Amino acid sequence: MPRDSHGHLTPGRISPLRPVPPTIDRPEYVGKVGPAPYTEGDVFDEATIELIAESSRIASDAITAVGEAIRPGITTDELDRVAHDYVVSHGAYPSTLGYRGFPKSVCTSINEVICHGIPDDTVLVDGDIVNIDITAFTNGVHGDTNRTFVVGTGSQDAVDLVERTRLALDRGIKAVAPGRQVNVIGRAIEMYAKRFGYGVVKDYTGHGVGRAFHSGLIIPHYDAPQFDDVMEVGMVFTIEPMLTLGETSADIWADDWTVTTRDKSLTAQFEHTLVVTERGARILTDY
Ligand code: MF3
Ligand code: CO
Ligand code: CO
Repeated sequence: MPRDSHGHLTPGRISPLRPVPPTIDRPEYVGKVGPAPYTEGDVFDEATIELIAESSRIASDAITAVGEAIRPGITTDELDRVAHDYVVSHGAYPSTLGYRGFPKSVCTSINEVICHGIPDDTVLVDGDIVNIDITAFTNGVHGDTNRTFVVGTGSQDAVDLVERTRLALDRGIKAVAPGRQVNVIGRAIEMYAKRFGYGVVKDYTGHGVGRAFHSGLIIPHYDAPQFDDVMEVGMVFTIEPMLTLGETSADIWADDWTVTTRDKSLTAQFEHTLVVTERGARILTDY
C-alpha cells in the first residue's frame, strides 16, 4: 500500500495508458515534450467563450461523476477511469493526458499533496481529503477546474480547511472586475485565508486558459502587486487557491509531478475557469 508508517503518501503503481478514440481531437502538445509557445492573448470573442464554456461544462460534470465514485476503498486509478471515460464519452480530450509527460486524465491530490498527484493504486481511506482536477479539450479550447472532497468522515480541521478553501476561491472570484489589476484576486484570497491562520501556496498560480492550457498569464493567490495585468471584458483565466494547515514550502517527488507540503501538513484546493464580464466574473465551470 502506498503509505508510509506515518500514513503519509508514497508513490504507487501507475496503470497503462488509457486510449482515446482517434475521432477525438488532441491538443497540439500531445506526443511532444511540451506545448508550442502561445502568443494569442487571453481575451476571446463571444463565440470562442461559448466554446470554452462547453469544455468547462464537460470538465465540471466529469468531477461531479468522479465525486459520486469517491468512497473509502477505491483507488485513485479507478477515479482516473471514471474521469477518462466521462470526458472521452462526451467527445472531449482529457487535457492532462500527455501534457509535458503527465500520464493520466485527472490529477488526484490526497492530504499533504498540494497538486499534480498522479492516479495510481493508492486506496482512499476514511478521513482522507482528495482533490480532483480535470481539464477538458474540445473545439480547440480547454476548460480547467478542480474540487476537494472529504472521504467518508473527515476531522473537523480537514472539513474546515476544505470549506474555507472553497470560500477563499469565492472571495477571489468576487474581486474580479474589468479595469482592476489581477493582483486584487490574490489579495482577497490571502486576506481571507489569514483569518484562520492558513498558509497560501505561492509556487503554483491561476493562469490564462482557452486556446492554450496555460497561456502565460499568471494569477497569484497571495498579495503580489507586481502582477499588474489589467482585467478586460472577455479575458478568460483560472483561479485555483491552495491553502495549507501548516507551512507552504513544497517538495516534488521523483516522478517530477507530485507536489507535497514539506511538513506534510494537510492542503486543499478549488479551481474555476471564468470569463471577465462588465458585471464581474462569469464562472464557466460552475456546479
Ligand atoms: N489542471 C492543472 C491546473 O490547474 C494542471 C495540471 S497539469 C498536469 O493548472 F500535467 F499535472 F496534469
Ligand atoms: Co488550472
Ligand atoms: Co486544473
